[in-house]
Amino acid sequence: MDIQQLLRENIRRLKPYSSARDEFSGQADIYIDANENPYNAAYNRYPDPLQKVVKKKISQIKGVPFNNIFLGNGSDEPIDLIIRAFCNPGIDNVIAPNPSYGMYKVSADINDVQLIQVPLTPEFHLNFDDIRAAADAHTKVIFLCSPNNPSGNCIPIEDIKNFVSTFQGIVVVDEAYIDFCDQPSMKEYVNIYPNLVILQTLSKAWGAASVRMGMAFASAEIIQILNKIKPPYNISKPAQEAALEILEHEDQVRQQAATVISERKRMALELTRYKGVKEIFPSEANFLLVRVDDANKLYHWLTSQGIIVRNRHGQLHCDNCLRLTVGTPTENDILFIKLNEYYHEKDFVFG
Ligand SMILES: Cc1ncc(COP(=O)(O)O)c(C=O)c1O
Repeated sequence: MDIQQLLRENIRRLKPYSSARDEFSGQADIYIDANENPYNAAYNRYPDPLQKVVKKKISQIKGVPFNNIFLGNGSDEPIDLIIRAFCNPGIDNVIAPNPSYGMYKVSADINDVQLIQVPLTPEFHLNFDDIRAAADAHTKVIFLCSPNNPSGNCIPIEDIKNFVSTFQGIVVVDEAYIDFCDQPSMKEYVNIYPNLVILQTLSKAWGAASVRMGMAFASAEIIQILNKIKPPYNISKPAQEAALEILEHEDQVRQQAATVISERKRMALELTRYKGVKEIFPSEANFLLVRVDDANKLYHWLTSQGIIVRNRHGQLHCDNCLRLTVGTPTENDILFIKLNEYYHEKDFVFG
């Protein structure tokens, strides 16, 4: 597949901004090249535009070669950059399943690119034939989210592989919740499929949502394109430093993820005990999508009790559904006590 052919013409021709730190990255005594404040302090200098130290660490942890890694200001940044690189506003389109993560649509809308939504089944399964049927000559990017937000289920890897190998555009697999799921990441396939992009993030299992750092793994060619069009210093120095510190604690992150997974199972089991809970969708993420008798009512009541959940009522196939993020064991216990109060099941004894 010719990735350059897929690119927007203006992006192919673009001469990227060359920052001071791009033009000289060695060691010197005096830096009077970037119009910075000369009085050295923690943050007076621009950061490394390519975040090399952080990428080396991520490369070690993830087993992905350095040249196949892009870092963004959250994974929301590569979502936007991919649309911008490949889709001509007002002409091209992207496809995403429905329901799925809301930023695919927002980013497409911002870029004046049509988002074609392909309905999942009521059980939130994806039929790739529906995607093939929806795609046309202007479909440049497909966003797949696995595990999917808000449903929590994964798309089988073999199905994605079959699709990527035949689709003549970019396939993005958003693995924001991969650390909570049994299915392995597809990151090892980025050097097999030149059109595959894997997104991961420090915002979920890594416990660093406020750092704003997302990872895109892809062929070196796609990574170069993203580097070409990103804002020159898209990751601040404090964010790079925080990421390095967080990446030192992989063991703790794995342990926390294991606890979240076991709490997710406990929550799913406990929730079956409430008469008002009608359906609990199988989840491989750090949340559960739960159908209740009256989602709006329960949502407002929980809010009044100081518990904020995500109301997904109104999304396709999500009638009366709330999305509950798995909290700490203590937080989950409080949720159960509150649900018990709400549903007046006085005989319910919390274990
Ligand atoms: C599927 C999915 N992708 C990406 C993100 C955003 O991640 P980040 O914080 O890295 O921008 C989210 C956040 O909720 C998400 O659910």
